[in-house]
Amino acid sequence: MVKICCIGAGYVGGPTMAVIALKCPKIEVVVVDIFEPRIIAWNSDQLPIYEPGLDDVVKQCRGKNLFFSKDVEKHVAEADIVFVSVNTPTKTQGLGAGKAADLTYWESAARMIADVSKSDKIVVEKSTVPVKTAEAIEKILTHNSKGINFQILSNPEFLAEGTAIQDLFKPDRVLIGGRETPEGQKAIQALKDVYAHWVPAERIICTNLWSAELSKLAANAFLAQRISSVNAMSALCEATGADVSQVSHAIGKDTRIGPKFLNASVGFGGSCFQKDILNLVYICECNGLAEVANYWKQVVQVNEYQKTRFVNRVVSSMFNTVSGKKIAILGFAFKKDTGDTRETPAIGVCQGLLGDKAILSIYDPQVPQEQIQRDLSMHKSELDKPPHLRPVSPIAIEQVTCVRDAYEATKGSHGICVLTEWDEFKTLDYQKIYNDMQKPAFVFDGRNVMDVDKLRQIGFIVYSIGKPLDAWLKDMPAVA
Ligand code: NAD
Ligand code: UDX
Repeated sequence: MVKICCIGAGYVGGPTMAVIALKCPKIEVVVVDIFEPRIIAWNSDQLPIYEPGLDDVVKQCRGKNLFFSKDVEKHVAEADIVFVSVNTPTKTQGLGAGKAADLTYWESAARMIADVSKSDKIVVEKSTVPVKTAEAIEKILTHNSKGINFQILSNPEFLAEGTAIQDLFKPDRVLIGGRETPEGQKAIQALKDVYAHWVPAERIICTNLWSAELSKLAANAFLAQRISSVNAMSALCEATGADVSQVSHAIGKDTRIGPKFLNASVGFGGSCFQKDILNLVYICECNGLAEVANYWKQVVQVNEYQKTRFVNRVVSSMFNTVSGKKIAILGFAFKKDTGDTRETPAIGVCQGLLGDKAILSIYDPQVPQEQIQRDLSMHKSELDKPPHLRPVSPIAIEQVTCVRDAYEATKGSHGICVLTEWDEFKTLDYQKIYNDMQKPAFVFDGRNVMDVDKLRQIGFIVYSIGKPLDAWLKDMPAVA
């Protein structure tokens, strides 16, 4: 029986391995992590991450051929294939700080693999890493190998949170990069055989190591660039009276452009886009490609601009101050159907409003109160660390309360900011909400999911990203 071990039981390691176990009943899959509470949660009824369809997959194979364990070394030693899916956050100190990927966790995993291995292994990069990481890892492994043969493969993951199970069941493609030697090709074939249990052969792409590593960064950079492009367009729409949804629809009909990923928003979030673009920027700089680096930097800058622009709209609409005003925040996760808040635009928006002394009442159906407090009170460099290295208790911010439903959040408030596109926000009783708010009552829709006409009929003053402006907003001072 082939044995797989995955180091890192996070958003990628957990769901990916659960799907491999489900689709390959004859393969034993063990997911290991040094953070024990996560392993305990994976073995319980309350999984550590919220992902539609995940519970069902885990229930079907946990205890049969899918296991979660904190006994990292034992299971690595026993495995034929070791996936490494640990954190690769942006470096916060030293050379490349603020841009380069921090490979500390990856390197320590690689050293541990070399230490405990007693048989030949295929080591698979699942984490997103800079180009040429495989070479560095190969050096660590071979210099400590004690005669054991390691083959390194790059097999980047393209799942998106909220749709992870669906993405894993029917991937657009699976990418496997390996050495162009006979041993490298044999290792590629072994990993191909795993995916071939459910992924059609034509969707499994094999490349050299460097193409696979760079393709992952490139894919995220292209996707993020699309959002920054449409968000940049949204600012122009507001200035000209065009409607960004109509513009997106019109350009998306061009088959060369395509309709997906053209929704203007308060900015993109998630653990990958910003980190991977900064990583790309650093690689360009290291290779003397300053102009190319500047090109990609713009994508991140536009994203920051979009969040600032949103905060400015809120403040300027409300008589240029939100000091002492209650503002309801609906949605804190970086997108719907996840409880993940890494790089969520809600952090920047809330901090901007708090900077103007607003009082925030926050509701998100999946993000726990302590996570919100942690995100708003801790420095980003702390938040990006693996969970066992983060400070335990966040300092609660006085002007922030987290509540259990949208009606409580909005009661007595001056304005509502919709920051995540949760479906339940579309069907709230907005007449009731309006009746319980201060007047004039505002809605700032950062996701373009509200029924604007209906809200205006009720009496709300409404701002939607990239849409023709309410007369009220037109009269307010122009914002940057
Ligand atoms: P995560 O923080 O959810 O999980 C990483 C896990 O690795 C943590 O539980 C941590 O405790 C564990 N870990 C760290 N060092 C370890 C070690 N030495 N031994 C054992 N366990 C260790 O992160 P994630 O979102 O799953 O991301 C993992 C990688 O996958 C990153 O490189 C990320 O860029 C990439 N990726 C993420 C996504 C996504 O949607 N989250 C998608 C594609 C790729
Ligand atoms: C992304 C990539 O899509 C995935 O392939 C990769 O493996 C990991 O990074 P993820 O960050 O989980 O996935 O979610 P995604 O759906 O890409 O959304 C990222 C951010 O962009 C979210 O904040 C989302 O709200 C925003 N977004 C997305 C928009 O603002 N507009 C869009 O049209 C699409």
